[in-house]
Amino acid sequence: MASNAFVSEIIGLLSFLALLCISDSSKVTPDKFFDVRRYSAVSDGKTDNSQAFLKAWREACNCDGKCWVSVPKGTYKLGNVGFVGPCKGVTGFLIRGAIVAPTDPAQFTERWILFQYVENLLIKGGGTLDGQGASAWPHNDCRINPHCKPLPATLSFDFVTHSRIHHLKSLNSKSVHFNLFACNNITINKVELTAPADSPNTDGIRIGQSNHIKISQSVIGTGDDCIAMINGVRNVVISNVSCGPGHGISIGSLGRASNEQVHDIKVLNCNISNTQNGLRVKTWAPSFSGMVSNLTYQNILMNEVSNPIIFDQNYCPNRSCSKKAQSRVKISNATFKNIRGTSRSKIAVNFQCSGVEPCDRVTLDNINLAYHGPGGPAESLCRNVKGTSTGTQRPPACL
Ligand SMILES: *[C@@H]1O[C@H](CO)[C@@H](O)[C@H](O)[C@H]1NC(C)=O
Ligand SMILES: *[C@@H]1O[C@H](CO)[C@@H](O)[C@H](O)[C@H]1NC(C)=O
Ligand SMILES: *[C@@H]1O[C@H](CO)[C@@H](O)[C@H](O)[C@H]1NC(C)=O
Ligand SMILES: *[C@@H]1O[C@H](CO)[C@@H](O)[C@H](O)[C@H]1NC(C)=O
Ligand SMILES: *[C@@H]1O[C@H](CO)[C@@H](O)[C@H](O)[C@H]1NC(C)=O
Ligand SMILES: *[C@@H]1O[C@H](CO)[C@@H](O)[C@H](O)[C@H]1NC(C)=O
Repeated sequence: MASNAFVSEIIGLLSFLALLCISDSSKVTPDKFFDVRRYSAVSDGKTDNSQAFLKAWREACNCDGKCWVSVPKGTYKLGNVGFVGPCKGVTGFLIRGAIVAPTDPAQFTERWILFQYVENLLIKGGGTLDGQGASAWPHNDCRINPHCKPLPATLSFDFVTHSRIHHLKSLNSKSVHFNLFACNNITINKVELTAPADSPNTDGIRIGQSNHIKISQSVIGTGDDCIAMINGVRNVVISNVSCGPGHGISIGSLGRASNEQVHDIKVLNCNISNTQNGLRVKTWAPSFSGMVSNLTYQNILMNEVSNPIIFDQNYCPNRSCSKKAQSRVKISNATFKNIRGTSRSKIAVNFQCSGVEPCDRVTLDNINLAYHGPGGPAESLCRNVKGTSTGTQRPPACL
């Protein structure tokens, strides 16, 4: 009897455990998908699907677990929309089709697609965002009008955290492809951002006021900076990026407002090809005080880049600044290691630093940049910069 009671107790315990297991596994809810077609999106490339996308977003954002807005194959026209959090769980956009921007100038505001206040956002799917830039570029008069109105960025991320964007193409943005503002812990990889070399202000990825951003394994070729880091950026790692055409990988411009800073930036294993600049820091002159520090540039291959390495502390695109005015942005602790390839201009290494805040702790380690044009070979230029050089130095270092 006693042993039977024991056995039934064991059986009871086992079935209780089995039940636990079942209820435990049933807790792992599968991903949920909100197909935009269910909210009457039409993939004819003409119908404005803004309301359908917003309805699908609302469902996905309010659902527990991992919930996706799903955009199947097809061409979906989308107006200016804001996908706003906070959301309940992990919220995703699975983009397999093409999403196409408005071409009506009445809709040229600062943003096309905005993600705001979202934590745990995922965007992927191999699809395309088509900014229809050709409809807007002729409206860009920023070269002659200092108060020019910005054209829409394709994707804007404002206050987005712990998120990942991957396997996505962005084509012909009207201005910036991806704009990150006040973001933290964002990973961007395997994206392809393209616009013609002569399209105005079509930066690839512009980052401001953000921390912990990783960009890797991506191809960026545009009419402006491949990647631009402006005020308030810290802890960025850019690796395995192929950049060009465009204006290169840039920090700045800085100094137009008080105390602008950029720190802890790493650019590793990148190819920069047929761009106006390679690795650039630019600050206004005159300027407010500010600081840029802890920059590491390593294993960079340049192919016919006009200014492969350049610190431009005399930035004044409006050309109405005093020639004697100096930048007060300090640049400190920058290392360039294993930078090789070809320069399209004679001054392959160009440090134009401020006379009032000279650059310091600049290191050149194994630089091999050839210039094959008239008046060669390549040269370096150093103004107001302190640092050291080791290893190969072609052009001869001036540090
Ligand atoms: C960064 O975000 C990812 C999700 O994309 C998350 O898994 C990871 O834990 C976050 N890292 C930190 C340090 O918060
Ligand atoms: C850069 O170019 C080299 C030589 O063409 C190639 O081996 C390497 O994979 C390229 N890297 C990237 C990130 O495109
Ligand atoms: C970067 O690219 C190189 C070669 O192109 C490859 O060996 C390496 O694994 C890549 N790194 C990452 C983190 O993808
Ligand atoms: C530069 O990096 C060092 C080492 O990580 C750190 O201690 C220092 O605070 C950084 N500088 C700035 C201005 O953040
Ligand atoms: C310089 O920056 C590197 C990272 O780029 C960092 O490891 C190092 O500690 C910094 N040195 C100082 C003196 O801040
Ligand atoms: C050009 O930029 C400088 C420096 O910011 C500024 O002082 C000046 O007013 C600007 N001029 C025009 C015409 O925008």
